[in-house]
Amino acid sequence: MSLKKYLQKARKENRAMAQFNFSTLDQLQAIISSANVPIIVGTSVKESNFFGMAEAVALVGYYRKKGAKVFLNLDHGRDIEIVKKAIDLGYDMVHFDGSKMDHDSNIKDTKKIVNYAHKKGIIVEGEVGYIPGQSAMNKCDLPKVDSVAIADVVRFVETTGVDLIALPFGSVHGVYSQAPKLNYNFLKEVSKIKQFLVLHGGSGIKDGDIKKAIKLGITKININTELRMAWREGLEKSLKSKDYAPYDLLSESKNRVGQVVTKKLLIFS
Ligand code: 13P
Repeated sequence: MSLKKYLQKARKENRAMAQFNFSTLDQLQAIISSANVPIIVGTSVKESNFFGMAEAVALVGYYRKKGAKVFLNLDHGRDIEIVKKAIDLGYDMVHFDGSKMDHDSNIKDTKKIVNYAHKKGIIVEGEVGYIPGQSAMNKCDLPKVDSVAIADVVRFVETTGVDLIALPFGSVHGVYSQAPKLNYNFLKEVSKIKQFLVLHGGSGIKDGDIKKAIKLGITKININTELRMAWREGLEKSLKSKDYAPYDLLSESKNRVGQVVTKKLLIFS
């Protein structure tokens, strides 16, 4: 079954598909072995450069052949060439992030990507409005989230033909000293469009708020920081031992990443 079909199924059943980001093999293994439902794994541009895009495609393909229902997304590709490279290498979907451009240039470039990707059967996530933050534990106040006009979202999706759309409505990338507040009125309004709605910055949001967002139409949720925190905390614990073997040092990280995946999938479904 295609990724688009899995997204349609999730929306029909009032669930959201998770996108878990990774940049190391032990993270990818922990994510895939802990997932009991179809998932998306994502690599941002920096994560892609660290892991290798061709390697990510080959490994996700390998796990899929072995029966895992897992799909690969390029997360926040801001440069047309890198997004095209991901499509050519065999990513299952791409996220073109033109949110730092003016609205018309974003529409123009997203449309180029959509035409290129759709010819190869690859689905595209677009982004209107900027979702701020860093995928890290930020010990400061939440960054300000600017809202977007529904009319701009409608013009964007109608002109570009994107399949999924990332929008700012309160969530931010990373974990901060307080949990974000989501704009449910905006979600209610925007969920009238037919594209799949994506919640970026899934870490640090209260479980009840995630559930409410899914009820109001969110079909894909991206998680990175909470996995990074779990991985780091596991490693910090292991480094207190006298171990030298990477398989000893990284096993606690793997366990903790797996626990985050299990917990999130339960909430999303
Ligand atoms: P978090 O780092 O807040 O989980 O956000 C991840 C994300 O949205 C990746 O696109």
